Amino acid sequence: MINVTKTYLPALEKYQDYVRRIFESGWLTNNGALTQTLEARLSEYLQVPYVVLVSNGTLALQIAYRLLKVKDQAITTPFSFVATSSSLVWENINPVFADIDPNSFNISPENVRKAITPSTSAIVAVHVFGNPCDHDSLVKISKDNSIPIIYDAAHAFGVQYNGASIAGLGDISTFSFHATKIFHTIEGGAIIVKDKKTYDKAKLLINFGIPGYDQITELGINCKMNEFQAAMGLCILDDIEDIIAGRKSIYNRYVDSFLGTESLKLQQYSLKATNNYAYFPIVFSSEKILLKVKEELNKLEIFPRRYFFPSLEKLNYVASQVTPIANSISQRILCLPLFADLNWEEQKKIIEVVKKSA
Ligand SMILES: Cc1ncc(COP(=O)(O)O)c(C=O)c1O
Repeated sequence: MINVTKTYLPALEKYQDYVRRIFESGWLTNNGALTQTLEARLSEYLQVPYVVLVSNGTLALQIAYRLLKVKDQAITTPFSFVATSSSLVWENINPVFADIDPNSFNISPENVRKAITPSTSAIVAVHVFGNPCDHDSLVKISKDNSIPIIYDAAHAFGVQYNGASIAGLGDISTFSFHATKIFHTIEGGAIIVKDKKTYDKAKLLINFGIPGYDQITELGINCKMNEFQAAMGLCILDDIEDIIAGRKSIYNRYVDSFLGTESLKLQQYSLKATNNYAYFPIVFSSEKILLKVKEELNKLEIFPRRYFFPSLEKLNYVASQVTPIANSISQRILCLPLFADLNWEEQKKIIEVVKKSA
């Protein structure tokens, strides 16, 4: 069976060694030594001063909204994983959808500008499939309207944009370290903030608003990362360059095979950025063709995924909105299997089926 991705597992002995250390210390969670070490190592790897580790990428977003006092309305993309929008609704913020660019699949700055109202309190943008947003245009809108930008960078771990880490963009960037991501901590996430004051505040919010023994200074929640999660992250961070390099060759084989197939559209990836090769999306000319390809692949026990379908303006818990480009792309887009040990014979089968039906 071939799935869209395969969770990367580090050497078992290495993970066991960390588990042994956790057992010896008896310290399983609550900002333990491994969590602190992972924060420091990620801060170095992502070239950002402040990394706050949390239990998942959804709560990373929710804490980001609280830190930046997002309320009423936030402008966001309809083309993302549901958590980008559901986290807003969960925090009583209404998502206002700005349609995407048909080539990059990212939120269109022009549509963001059109969607601004006096109730807009933030822009929540996603670097879809790791492809950086048009940051310069979004920053201009953010400055002109004095509203912050939050980047949901769940797909963009390790990406460099204009020669610098993507993690440093926006007022806050967040990551998901779910097991399906190229860097993972089983479940987990991170909030990247700009200064010590916000870092301290985030640490407080993720720990019930408790700064130390016998004190509760504000409303908080529990979304701390535990030591077993941090141990997985420490193991995987050692291997991250190999993980990305391993995916690159598979990704490039897809590109070489599909270039020139008129009926297929590939994501237009930013020329100012490096790629982490986390996803390989292709857009068919109709949903009917997509469904046929999916069915043919499923018969061979190959399971690509419809990332992202349905388009989020269709959610039954958001106000009705129309975003035709996101709707059309989401009906026709499929992410093909991509992981380092997908062998050429298997990949050839996938390419053949896609080309035959497209
Ligand atoms: C774009 C995006 N945002 C947010 C999330 C939520 O992250 P998590 O699953 O870690 O809560 C995910 C993935 O799962 C995602 O792909």
